[in-house]
Amino acid sequence: MVTTPFHANRPMLVILDFGSQYSELIARRVRELQVYSEVLSYRTPIAEIRERNPQGIILSGGPNSVYDRHAPHSDPALWDLGIPVLGVCYGMQLMAQQLAGGLVEPALKREYGRASLRVDNSTDLLKDVADGTTMWMSHGDAVTRLPKGFVKLAHTENSPCAAMADHERHFYGVQFHPEVVHSVGGMALLINFVRNICRCEPTWTPESFIEESIADVRAQVGTKRVLLALSGGVDSSTLAFLLHRAIGDQLTCMFIDQGFMRKEEPERLVKLFRDQFHIPVVHVQATERFLERIKDVSDPEEKRKRIGHEFIQVFEEESSRLGPFDYLAQGTLYPEVIESSGENIDPATGERVAVRIKSHHNVGGLPKNLRFKLVEPLRRLFKDEVRKVGRVLGLPEEIVNRHPFPGPGLAIRILGAVDYEKLTILRDADMIVRQEINASGLYHSLWQAFAVLLPVKTVGVMGDQRTYAYPVILRLVTSEDGMTADWARMPYELLERIATRIINEVTGINRVALDITSKPPGTIEWE
Ligand code: XMP
Repeated sequence: MVTTPFHANRPMLVILDFGSQYSELIARRVRELQVYSEVLSYRTPIAEIRERNPQGIILSGGPNSVYDRHAPHSDPALWDLGIPVLGVCYGMQLMAQQLAGGLVEPALKREYGRASLRVDNSTDLLKDVADGTTMWMSHGDAVTRLPKGFVKLAHTENSPCAAMADHERHFYGVQFHPEVVHSVGGMALLINFVRNICRCEPTWTPESFIEESIADVRAQVGTKRVLLALSGGVDSSTLAFLLHRAIGDQLTCMFIDQGFMRKEEPERLVKLFRDQFHIPVVHVQATERFLERIKDVSDPEEKRKRIGHEFIQVFEEESSRLGPFDYLAQGTLYPEVIESSGENIDPATGERVAVRIKSHHNVGGLPKNLRFKLVEPLRRLFKDEVRKVGRVLGLPEEIVNRHPFPGPGLAIRILGAVDYEKLTILRDADMIVRQEINASGLYHSLWQAFAVLLPVKTVGVMGDQRTYAYPVILRLVTSEDGMTADWARMPYELLERIATRIINEVTGINRVALDITSKPPGTIEWE
């Protein structure tokens, strides 16, 4: 790709990943300070790091012990780069181990959870970090002897040395995790490191990202045509706005309507884009095809697979009808780009083990062997950054803050075989859930809120009539990232309103139940 790397003209930090679950979080925190950062594997050759010209490096935590035979080690040439380094947890221990004079041993007491940080020396790194502030600990090893040139900055009840510094060389180590939200003084510490010690100016803003991306996209695609598959989610919508601003009518947005979206959403999406944003969208109405393809299929995996295949087929047919196109725009985000560096070493075998469980495969995905070249301007962004960029580009809040919605849509919320009748019933019930959640003002406190239709019938009574109809299950969950979730404790009055309205207003449903399963062991979706 002929794109200028984002780090070319701006101050940036490198986060070296040693397998911590928090490596991405460190990068996000740095970016919250408006300083660009990239997560690289600990194995990255020093030349590649130097190429990025970072103004500082942060070594992440990790699950290993530095003295394990196969523990991950970065290139020691790192210490000769002449730039500030902050080691976090495992990163601090590695610093102590690799620099002359330091020693790391198993701690007398493992330390997990909140600890009160006693500040012994509040120069630069701990400036404005209050004595006694809470920091989050998670370690079984400790630095028991400081490397030459280092002084102790802080301790906790269980860690004689919880922070250390070599002020001469600008090397710093902290035993705790300043990046996690439980570390009250964590952000102050990161500000000291990023802004004061590394001297990074705040230049990473949505506005600057937009400006650079537009220039990059123009340079990349020239006068060629670009195809974008719009789903209505925040990623593809932001991408559409950005590309439309960059290349205008060289962009074609195609929305494949599988027939499994929520009530009124397809029409709203197309109208919003076409009438309000003046971005034309080709609305491919394919409900019949999709329904036919999954007719009588009740196995969830088979259903997903068939929807996925049909999507690809429709996509290929429509793209040749509308084309030819040279480029395909994809809303790839940064976590997918760095997924490959999310690995750690099994100390027993020395083998690499993936630590991140790969997030849901999107069945709306496209075939691997595409004949298009890719345009992926969002590949440097985290999800929260996409939202910020979307907002600056003028995307309405209803899209920016939209709950996640699965690619196969309502088809995986109708258990068992899907047909028109069930789709209509679920759509109406789901609409009531949404309306009431919106009216309650609780939408933003939830990760997702929806109804699931079961393929069984239950007995009820309405007026003097016996009923025999479907039950729906309410699935209302809170979550940080969808990987784990909890059932949301919603007010009884709200639950009652939803249940009463569904039963009164939706023909075909006579019972509403609430799912109180967390994830794990449950999943958020029912199929
Ligand atoms: P589960 O059900 O595995 O879902 O707890 C976790 C999150 O992923 C969403 N999800 C999907 N998203 N395509 C998607 O784009 C899919 O096939 C898919 N399946 C589940 C789900 O809504 C939840 O937010």
